[in-house]
Amino acid sequence: MSFWAPGEIRLMFQAVAQAPSVHNIQPWVLELHERSVLLFERWDHAIPRHDPKGRDRLMSCGAALTNLELAMRHLGWESCTALFPDRAYPDLVASVSAVRPYIPTSTERDLYLAIPYRRSQRFRFDGDPLSEDEIRAVRHALVGERVSYHRVTGHEEAEAVATVSEHAAEVLRHDHRYLHELQALTVDRGKARLGIPADRIGHGLFGGLVHSGDPVPDHETLTALIAKECVFVVETVDDTKWDHVLAGQVIQRAWLTATDLGIAASLITQSLQVPEVRTGLSERLQLPGFPHALMRFGRSTRVPKPSPRRPFADVVRES
Ligand SMILES: Cc1cc2nc3c(=O)[nH]c(=O)nc-3n(C[C@H](O)[C@H](O)[C@H](O)COP(=O)(O)O)c2cc1C
Repeated sequence: MSFWAPGEIRLMFQAVAQAPSVHNIQPWVLELHERSVLLFERWDHAIPRHDPKGRDRLMSCGAALTNLELAMRHLGWESCTALFPDRAYPDLVASVSAVRPYIPTSTERDLYLAIPYRRSQRFRFDGDPLSEDEIRAVRHALVGERVSYHRVTGHEEAEAVATVSEHAAEVLRHDHRYLHELQALTVDRGKARLGIPADRIGHGLFGGLVHSGDPVPDHETLTALIAKECVFVVETVDDTKWDHVLAGQVIQRAWLTATDLGIAASLITQSLQVPEVRTGLSERLQLPGFPHALMRFGRSTRVPKPSPRRPFADVVRES
């Protein structure tokens, strides 16, 4: 008889399935073992133009890992995670073991309960600014082992982000292979299991995905828009696969923290995948670490619908 009851397996699957992932490719598989669950990275849906080094794929696995840990704790098990535990299996990202019976903290419970409500909000925020307490909560969640953030502050920094975003948009809009790759993952809801619904792509130059030649705001307007938002650059001390997974974990914790507080958020890695944008942003904001993503937080009256997800049989396997 398996250690995990069918209902427990389903609960862990659902938590992981709802994690954010680059272009919604959901690059993970769960393998069930006695008292542990292994999270593997899957390489069957590569997006070489967007993510040539697989950085975003590993961040996505990190986000899924946060959800898996929260689910295991919600089931009443203290979890212990080992990252890349077996060199013989380079696709094995993490082993999460159920160590001993455990009562989750109230924060863990709130984050777990926020999982189904988290969404990418790629459109402009349209509500009041965030309060100092809310910003403090998000800032707190954006710090973790090897991971920290830089808050984009003031006109000069907003202009730096606007400038690099404009450059990225210009590069990507002329990259036909890139656009083709993104188009293949832009889906109608229908039967799709992967990809981003076409009506969720959002405002291309900042906040959403650059995908075509939509009209874009001029430089001053874009700078003012960015200055009004609460934007963070998520960075890590190094640029290794460990850093990428840890960054994904922190991003997901911050996203769930925001969701629990009723704050909308979206993640932008698209522009930072353009190499000169990544280095340019580092220089202009004088970042001490390696930037991976821009994360924006605000209020929104739109509640995006959920994106498609892979079915159970495609994600969970017995050992
Ligand atoms: C590592 C990573 C990179 C992402 N990059 C972008 C991005 O550049 N632009 C964007 O609009 N969304 C980005 N997303 C959000 C995903 O597109 C989103 O999570 C996915 O489509 C599922 O939708 P949901 O977040 O609403 O559940 C990223 C997510 C992750 C985890």
